[in-house]
Amino acid sequence: MKKPAIEGGIPARETKIYYGHQYIDDADIQAVVEVMKSDNLTCGPKIGELEEKLCRLTGARYAVVCSNGTAALHMAAMAAGITEGDEVITTPITFAASANCALYCGARPVFVDIDPETYNIDPNKVEAAITERTKAIVAVDFTGQSVELDRLVEISRKHGLKLIEDGAHVIGTTYKGRANGSISDMTTFSFHPVKTVTGGEGGAVLTNDEMLYKKLLLYRAHGITRDEAQMEHETDGPWYYEQVALGYNYRMTDIQAALLISQLDKLPLFRQRRKEIVARYNEAFARLPMLFVQKEIPDSDTTRHLYILRIVPEKLTIDRKRFFEALAAENVCCNVHYIPTYYFPYYEKLGFQKGLCPNAEKLYAEMLSLPLYYGMTDADVESVIEAVTKIALYYEKK
Ligand SMILES: Cc1ncc(COP(=O)(O)O)c(C=O)c1O
Repeated sequence: MKKPAIEGGIPARETKIYYGHQYIDDADIQAVVEVMKSDNLTCGPKIGELEEKLCRLTGARYAVVCSNGTAALHMAAMAAGITEGDEVITTPITFAASANCALYCGARPVFVDIDPETYNIDPNKVEAAITERTKAIVAVDFTGQSVELDRLVEISRKHGLKLIEDGAHVIGTTYKGRANGSISDMTTFSFHPVKTVTGGEGGAVLTNDEMLYKKLLLYRAHGITRDEAQMEHETDGPWYYEQVALGYNYRMTDIQAALLISQLDKLPLFRQRRKEIVARYNEAFARLPMLFVQKEIPDSDTTRHLYILRIVPEKLTIDRKRFFEALAAENVCCNVHYIPTYYFPYYEKLGFQKGLCPNAEKLYAEMLSLPLYYGMTDADVESVIEAVTKIALYYEKK
């Protein structure tokens, strides 16, 4: 049996590989350079072009692009009317922004446990968490796999809630043949560099609802409007605008938008390659009883953003931390997505305690994120598999 590098064996790879990396080609660079030479670095034509492209991609009626995925969630929470004293249901297995957007609006996040096999919020547990204060559900398509939208749409309609889909991971995924982005009341995207397509930073909110769309436009730009129909006073002249709500500067630049327009041309390629890598990992790891492969619901045709390797601790002599360190010694540099949000000191001070979501806590103790990105070669993929297999077999509990 091969000795892991951490025990003095030879690493599976000579060079380090990281869990995510952007893919930028000459067309992307050219697109950015063209904007740099143009008149509009921000508030220019690339914004509308990108928004149209996102609508065509997803089938959503409206898209509002913005500075990042966190801003997108904040704008969506405001447009949903979330305010002081409200409750917002979400999952703890996500980046903090999914719950923080409720806090920004003075509301309280309510954490509902995940399904132990798909790792997405468990729709069967959502209804029990609804109170008369509940205003919205922020459902996260964790790893890019769609949440069970039929169930969540039904629950939110029944209880008069807004369904905000945190689709930071989901671009390129379809649910029952419809692209995520066109189904929930609002869907947010993130274009951070580890995501499937990137603008350096960037975000978007997609919706089919014109009223929500108009609110999102206001919140993106200080609550300022130039539309006379939205104004409260007589216009003073061609320069005139009014601030009619309290918004922010959550604008995206045309530089980011141009990069994203170019990146979106490659989405089918990115999607295909990510699917291939996931299939290869799944095939290799399904054979190893000390590893658990994330369950995929048939309704989601997933463009995977993250690949979660989950250990079965009862079948290993090492825990997740040692597994993570052993992989690092093989030059496979992983990450962990995510620390349950309510573990953070800030949330502890708000009164949240460990024990709230047992499935999420168990997953957190057993998971790590393996490298997954378009630019990985077949040799990269095989060396990651070699490293994982070597460690799993060496530390198997006999
Ligand atoms: C699930 C989830 N929600 C929200 C965000 C926030 O996106 P951004 O980093 O673009 O603000 C991220 C990004 O890391 C995320 O993974």
